Amino acid sequence: MRLALLSAAALFALAAPLGAQTPQSVEVTPDQLLSPYYEALKAKVAMPVAGPNPALAPATTLTRIAVGSCNHQSAAQHMWAQIASANPQLFLMIGDNVYGDAGWDGDAGLASLRSAYALQASHPEFAGFRAKVPMMTTWDDHDFGLNDAGGSFPFRGWSETLFETFWGSSKAVKARPGIYESTITGPQGKRVQVIMLDTRFFRSDLKRGPWTKDRLPLGGYLPDDSAGKTVLGEAQWAWLAAELAKPADLRIVVSSTQVLTTAHQFEGWTNFPAERTRLLDLLGTREASGLVLLSGDRHSGGVYKVDHGGQTIWELTSSSLNLSFGDDIERTTAREPDAARVGKFFPIENYGLVDIDWQAKQVTVSLKGNTSATLVNQTFGW
Ligand SMILES: [Fe+2]
Repeated sequence: MRLALLSAAALFALAAPLGAQTPQSVEVTPDQLLSPYYEALKAKVAMPVAGPNPALAPATTLTRIAVGSCNHQSAAQHMWAQIASANPQLFLMIGDNVYGDAGWDGDAGLASLRSAYALQASHPEFAGFRAKVPMMTTWDDHDFGLNDAGGSFPFRGWSETLFETFWGSSKAVKARPGIYESTITGPQGKRVQVIMLDTRFFRSDLKRGPWTKDRLPLGGYLPDDSAGKTVLGEAQWAWLAAELAKPADLRIVVSSTQVLTTAHQFEGWTNFPAERTRLLDLLGTREASGLVLLSGDRHSGGVYKVDHGGQTIWELTSSSLNLSFGDDIERTTAREPDAARVGKFFPIENYGLVDIDWQAKQVTVSLKGNTSATLVNQTFGW
């Protein structure tokens, strides 16, 4: 950061002609300010890369997709073999894929995030899984760079570079700010569109509730509908609308944070109710197709259902792969009562499956625990 500030000052001094009037202010974004520093840094430090990953053949008829989130690079990696044994054709790693902010000392080079990626890549369990199962990824706060961070995180451009380098993002993703992407796979009549949203890069600052000496049991953020507040940012909103207008038979829309629930005040679309409504409205305008929402982040998992605009929308939250904060299912369920949740809230390690029955035009979402036993499942049609 210090380096970049110096170089910006030097640039300004060079640009201002001798004797010219000094302007009152110069608008420079952190991304602009830091980019020369990062260009230099790229050449000096190791840029971790995840191991090779097979491409998903575009003609594949997808019948099983797995999903998971919240994976700590320093914790046990036993879930990979379990997920592989379910034989998914595609794995969606949907955020907090590493905990890069663990031990971060505030450096603009995000050394702890680079180390986290390097450690994750070194695990044979993960590398073996990645060598076998095609993957798509998005990020959440801990691989974006900072707990609960959004668009005002000054080092977001660098964390984007690290993400895109590590996961081998497509040219289209690398060419635009943020990491959102979409694919359509399968023959006509069996096309699955996977939309991976970026809920971090553009997101407005969260509104914190007033300080209290008691830690609020269900989070401390207040719903905020102030003008200009956004989750996706306008470019991503426009992109999403265009994606939803493409022909597909089933759409899987992935948000790192939960979409449907309004039962807690941790992070989620519930922090921005107008944006949540905008998303549900927009999903309602999609070209005719089935729809499944997937999310993570919570260190617990469950199935959610909401009726909106005459449609029933389903969401599977799968979290965590290896960073569970407890095993008391009844207590976790009782702690967070939620009219939108169908069944219990599972704090134990888990991954999710999306099984597609093309004949019956039905989807079954299920949550699998840390021995792959089914915790909850739900079938719905389209
Ligand atoms: Fe998170």
